[in-house]
Amino acid sequence: STHRAVLIPGDGIGPEVTSAVQRVLQAAGAPLEWEEHQAGVKALENGDDVLPEETVEAIRRLGVALKGPCTTPVGEGFTSVNVQLRKRLNLYAAVRPVRSLDGVQTRFENVDLVIIRENTEGLYSGVENQVTDDVVMSMKVATETACTRIARWAFRYATRRDRKKITVFHKANIMKMTDGLFLRCARQIHKAEYPNIEYDEVIIDAGCMKLVQNPGQFDVLLLENLYGDVVSDLCAGLVGGLGVVPGANIGEEQAVFEAVHGSAPDIAGNGVANPLALLMSAVMLLNYLAETRGDDVCRDVAGRIRIAYDRALADGAKTGDLGGDLGTDAFADAIIERLDQP
Ligand code: NAI
Ligand code: MG
Repeated sequence: STHRAVLIPGDGIGPEVTSAVQRVLQAAGAPLEWEEHQAGVKALENGDDVLPEETVEAIRRLGVALKGPCTTPVGEGFTSVNVQLRKRLNLYAAVRPVRSLDGVQTRFENVDLVIIRENTEGLYSGVENQVTDDVVMSMKVATETACTRIARWAFRYATRRDRKKITVFHKANIMKMTDGLFLRCARQIHKAEYPNIEYDEVIIDAGCMKLVQNPGQFDVLLLENLYGDVVSDLCAGLVGGLGVVPGANIGEEQAVFEAVHGSAPDIAGNGVANPLALLMSAVMLLNYLAETRGDDVCRDVAGRIRIAYDRALADGAKTGDLGGDLGTDAFADAIIERLDQP
């Protein structure tokens, strides 16, 4: 059987990488049928909002989406598509696996960690006000409900994926109430529900130093919204950059899969963007369908795509961001050539 899924090409390099990824999925025999919808600046050209209601409705209806990056117009009063989407569909868990890849030269060879980011509150609550002529203020919001929910999600994820340890990055020494609550909830879930998973806490600044010194010591990182955003890009840098880190935004009923990177206006339109981060996100989408709908074909296709891109990289087939000389489409072709038949 085939699964209908929403495809959002997005802005900048979005359409280039999504069409490359669609070709790989098709060649691998992924049982997916796309329903295309708009978001971002592209949606603004055809309507009056960066996130049209019909796009949100389609994701609600079909349950899964593959999303290209969307440009957020700066200072024009629009709330970021991503922030809106995560809030409106309550996609409260962002998951970003970061691992070293054969054939991608970096300072480290043993990075294999997963970032789990709380996606709905913190400083992304969007509550900002002008207090006086001189003072503006931003509110960091934390709720026991959301902190407990993300902690439980992280421990359950670690258990299912056979991960050993969860580390929370925090600044509870300064933000005693908000980060303090985040820590209390994580401790509580650990103690009451998952005592067999190792658990520790690191103050975020020291944590960043440890990450760049020896990332191999980390397994699963659990972070509130802003820390998760920043540390995701830092970790991308440990394994070759934004071109190789995928992501998923997961809620109770829906999931939206997208790369960590943005629309990369500096290289958009040149056919040089790395489609791998979005392809890896599509692999996560297939594994999600395998888990939530029990479809083994999805798991098989996901596995074959992963083997094929690992082979391509190991053979030196790479885009410019990884020091190679292939464009977006040529790299997709290199992956397609290395796909095993089912
Ligand atoms: P960015 O991630 O678009 O680009 C940062 C740097 O990484 C640039 O030099 C870019 O060329 C490079 N890069 C990113 N993806 C790449 C790829 N696949 N292959 C090769 N090189 C790649 O971040 P930036 O410039 O801060 O943001 C640009 C726009 O994207 C903004 O409007 C921002 O709001 C939006 N954005 C959207 C996201 C989303 O839709 N999920 C996430 C992050 C940013
Ligand atoms: Mg980010």
